Amino acid sequence: MRVDLTGRVALVTGSAKGIGRAIADRFAAEGASVVYSDMAAPSEAANDPRHMALKLDVTDEDDVQAAIDAIIARYGKLDICVNNAGIGTAPADRVTIDKVRLEQWKRLIDVDLTGVFLVSRAASAAMIPAKYGRIINISSVLGLVPMRLQSAYVAAKAGVANLTKGMAIELAPHGITVNAIAPGSTATDGWRGWINDATSEEKDLHARLMSHIPMGRPAETGEIAHAALFLADPDSAFVTAQIVAVDGGWIAGFARDF
Ligand SMILES: NC(=O)c1ccc[n+]([C@@H]2O[C@H](COP(=O)([O-])OP(=O)(O)OC[C@H]3O[C@@H](n4cnc5c(N)ncnc54)[C@H](O)[C@@H]3O)[C@@H](O)[C@H]2O)c1
Repeated sequence: MRVDLTGRVALVTGSAKGIGRAIADRFAAEGASVVYSDMAAPSEAANDPRHMALKLDVTDEDDVQAAIDAIIARYGKLDICVNNAGIGTAPADRVTIDKVRLEQWKRLIDVDLTGVFLVSRAASAAMIPAKYGRIINISSVLGLVPMRLQSAYVAAKAGVANLTKGMAIELAPHGITVNAIAPGSTATDGWRGWINDATSEEKDLHARLMSHIPMGRPAETGEIAHAALFLADPDSAFVTAQIVAVDGGWIAGFARDF
């Protein structure tokens, strides 16, 4: 699919690696000026003079406003905002609800849900005067169908899905669409490293997970970026308030016998 994003300015949070990097690179390949932002060192792709590198922690209110101000100062507008930055549940934190530490709960909600709110608030304020915008939030299949031992994550990602719809109906009169992508298990470099070094117990766990996905494999990051490109397309103007699952059929039903 080709989408002409020439002249469009796109912010992608958490784009130093993984899904965010794939989305940012795909938008760049389609002609957009991309703001590669991350709390870690941004991708080297941001060295291209068309693009911009921003160190941004999405949980820091002042940092977020300063980032949007810097984008407007440099480009005069913000057309596309992808709220991708996120953290998962560390293996040691995978416990039942009666054992979840408040500190762990707050950190996850802060990054995965409040971060989306903060960036969307500042981005939409910049988009409203332009009467144009595409906001794309990265939720998760676990925000639609929860998994055990990840209560903060499933709550945050469900929050992102419903926040997406709430923002969409508020921002529609301003020509701004708001949609979410709910990826299933996705093969990032971090995931590949984990699989390479996995213990036999972890490999079993992975095989069980894959048996639950009708396609029998994880998504490639480029496949998530493909969905993001569709939602970022200027011609997708009537697609809003949607949660697009890119999950190989995961949430459609049970893919194995019991
Ligand atoms: N990989 C999957 O299987 C999968 C599945 C469903 C949803 N997701 C979601 O996709 C998004 C990207 O996941 P990924 O697998 O590519 O992760 P990743 O760990 O490979 O990359 C996440 C990036 O976000 C950055 N980040 C973390 N906290 C941040 C903060 N406070 N401010 C700014 N940047 C921050 C990290 O530095 C990192 O570069 C996340 O929202 C995640 O929940 C991933």
